[in-house]
Amino acid sequence: MKQKKFKAIVLGAGYRGRAYADYAKAHPSELEIVGVADPDPENARSIAAPRYWSDWRECLAEHPEADIVMITMPDALHYEPALLALDAGYHLLLEKPISPTPEQCKEVIAKALEKKRLVVIGHILRYTQYFAHIKAILDSGEIGEVVSIAHQESAGFFKVAHSYCRGNWANSKKSSPIILAKCSHDFDLFSWWIGKPCTKVTSFGSIKLFRPENKPAGAPDRCVDCPAGIEHDCIWSAIKMYVKYDNLKYLFPDRSREAMMKLVSETEYGKCVYCCDNDVPDHQTVNMEFEGGATVSHVMAGFTERNVRTTRISCTRGEIIGNGKTLHICRFDGNDVETGVPLVLRVSNPSRHGGGDFNLVAAMLRMLRRDDPQEMAAVTTQTLESHLIAFAAEESRLNGGKVINLR
Ligand SMILES: NC(=O)c1ccc[n+]([C@@H]2O[C@H](COP(=O)([O-])OP(=O)(O)OC[C@H]3O[C@@H](n4cnc5c(N)ncnc54)[C@H](O)[C@@H]3O)[C@@H](O)[C@H]2O)c1
Repeated sequence: MKQKKFKAIVLGAGYRGRAYADYAKAHPSELEIVGVADPDPENARSIAAPRYWSDWRECLAEHPEADIVMITMPDALHYEPALLALDAGYHLLLEKPISPTPEQCKEVIAKALEKKRLVVIGHILRYTQYFAHIKAILDSGEIGEVVSIAHQESAGFFKVAHSYCRGNWANSKKSSPIILAKCSHDFDLFSWWIGKPCTKVTSFGSIKLFRPENKPAGAPDRCVDCPAGIEHDCIWSAIKMYVKYDNLKYLFPDRSREAMMKLVSETEYGKCVYCCDNDVPDHQTVNMEFEGGATVSHVMAGFTERNVRTTRISCTRGEIIGNGKTLHICRFDGNDVETGVPLVLRVSNPSRHGGGDFNLVAAMLRMLRRDDPQEMAAVTTQTLESHLIAFAAEESRLNGGKVINLR
């Protein structure tokens, strides 16, 4: 039987919009992008579509025929279009965060349940083989129940400087707190793995380095104006990060030397890291207790060489140790500890996040094909949990580590 082909509109054709729209390019029989809204013409045209609008409002006002609206605009542009799109009857692929406030997050999810629409949040980690394999091991019951999790998100020094010092998520008032923007993915994993609600949260964190008082004497506000002696020794130099090295180029459609020089000469990405508009911590620790007593300790570490997540999950009958690429599963039930069962991360498709971007779209399309109201309501509701943990963590951090009761 021929399977249904879904139609989607993309609101925001930046890095994330392109990542999900690429699925339609790779699987044209399953998904078609029928329109793109973006005020940046270069970004808009990076996704092939029959219709273009320069703003999301213009697009939704016309109510184009489609099944899914992909909301992949900046954080502050999620809530309003989400409500309007749900009211108009579209399902949502909504990038995290749902909104920067807990009240608005709850309102969006309530609207989706009222309208019986599916909301899939861009929690891509659970759609990767590596993290899904952990879930399968835990669900098998083979190593018992989860007792505690120690998880570190090593954010990568270059990524932290890019996103959380110079870029879009540096100022919580303009976007959202880092613990929501960066770590809602991790909180989503913990809730999913443990399968029970989080009850208590406490957190500490601050800006250790990216402060004006740490700026070298004589350094100007932009790296292109920096005296060679200072720029040469600065690991945070925008010229190094964007022009010389390739780590961050995948975020931009035009990666030529000219485009990158323009970026560092004219945009916030060329600012000295010590005089940005940043207010989000460069390191933060969150401790959580879940119903049934399982505890989780989560470290968001900004000063790490690589961008990787490492995890130790202690269960009643065994342990999982994950280095971000391979899993080591130790069982306590033999004479010896049984080690091994290494799992080499297999990327089954070419999308980023270990294949998670495409797997997320594929999972959403499968759910829409099944059209099971209970499943759609459960998936939609569950997305809220990660956000509520993140909001509680931020409240705790701002109140000196106060314990926040979630239930
Ligand atoms: N799931 C993940 O792993 C992940 C990773 C990065 C970002 N994100 C989230 O995805 C969202 C987008 O991030 P990004 O990195 O793609 O940013 P981006 O800046 O690359 O893209 C955002 C796009 O939205 C467009 N836009 C701005 N105003 C608009 C308007 N009024 N109408 C239509 N389009 C508009 C911009 O022109 C830009 O092209 C953010 O909310 C971010 O937090 C999620």
